[in-house]
Amino acid sequence: MTPTPGSVALITGGTGGFGRALAALLRRQEVTVVLADLDSDANRRTAADLDAHFVALDVTDRVANAAVVAQVEAEHGRLDAAFLNAGIAGKSRDTLDVDEFLRVVDVDLFGVVYGTEAALPALARAGGGSIVVTASLAGLSPVATDPGYSVAKGGAVAFVRALAPRLVGDGITMSAICPGFADTAIIDPLRDEFAASDFPVLSAEEVARAMAAAWAGAEPGAAYVVQPGIGAVPYRFKGVPAARTASGETAVVPQALMPPALR
Ligand SMILES: NC(=O)c1ccc[n+]([C@@H]2O[C@H](COP(=O)([O-])OP(=O)(O)OC[C@H]3O[C@@H](n4cnc5c(N)ncnc54)[C@H](O)[C@@H]3O)[C@@H](O)[C@H]2O)c1
Repeated sequence: MTPTPGSVALITGGTGGFGRALAALLRRQEVTVVLADLDSDANRRTAADLDAHFVALDVTDRVANAAVVAQVEAEHGRLDAAFLNAGIAGKSRDTLDVDEFLRVVDVDLFGVVYGTEAALPALARAGGGSIVVTASLAGLSPVATDPGYSVAKGGAVAFVRALAPRLVGDGITMSAICPGFADTAIIDPLRDEFAASDFPVLSAEEVARAMAAAWAGAEPGAAYVVQPGIGAVPYRFKGVPAARTASGETAVVPQALMPPALR
């Protein structure tokens, strides 16, 4: 399931900072790369410059996600990895703007859900593969300035953890990448403040390496924290207290409540 010459990867939000760095890395390994992003001449040019294919996609369009995967299979014969990476951040730092909240959740969470729905049958047809979701450190440690982003990224991490175990039997590995602040367009509004306080930010290449490594060998359901000076490390989730039976023993969830793949 590792990236090999001729394997096919789809990257949503693919012409942005992480997408470009990942595309360059994968092209060096002779992977066929399809960048899916909002349609513009600039985005099409970016893909061409990277020797990658471009397909127009708004990830909030559920039907369009399926159409893009169908196009990838029709044009390239298979899909081996889906990097569900498109994302936006909120801008209203001090107020709760519910319209903005919903927009961020639509792109950053539902875009991942629709992308997963679209990719799974194609990955199964390829005999297995990987889904790598770009979440964020904000998905593990919510940020006070952006509740919509925190909810969307936390939801994406929960979605990955919920779904990953039942995909293992089909040879599909699903994992999340949780970078801290990284040097891409998304931090443009914060860049001066980071520079002024000498706050270290990741390069897009560091994050791309973590994304590629997740394709090559992630632990199913893992959320990899990527931080400057740390690299990529799996986040260790704390367990929650289990229910106790009347006699004080740990209660086990009934098998009938588990998805068939996990019984
Ligand atoms: N840069 C950071 O500090 C940082 C940290 C943690 C997580 N992330 C996440 O990494 C991912 C990639 O972001 P980036 O840092 O490369 O920023 P970026 O702004 O350079 O790239 C984001 C890309 O997503 C695309 N996009 C936005 N809305 C879309 C939509 N509806 N449909 C399709 N594409 C859409 C944009 O056109 C852009 O190309 C995002 O999910 C972001 O939330 C970024």
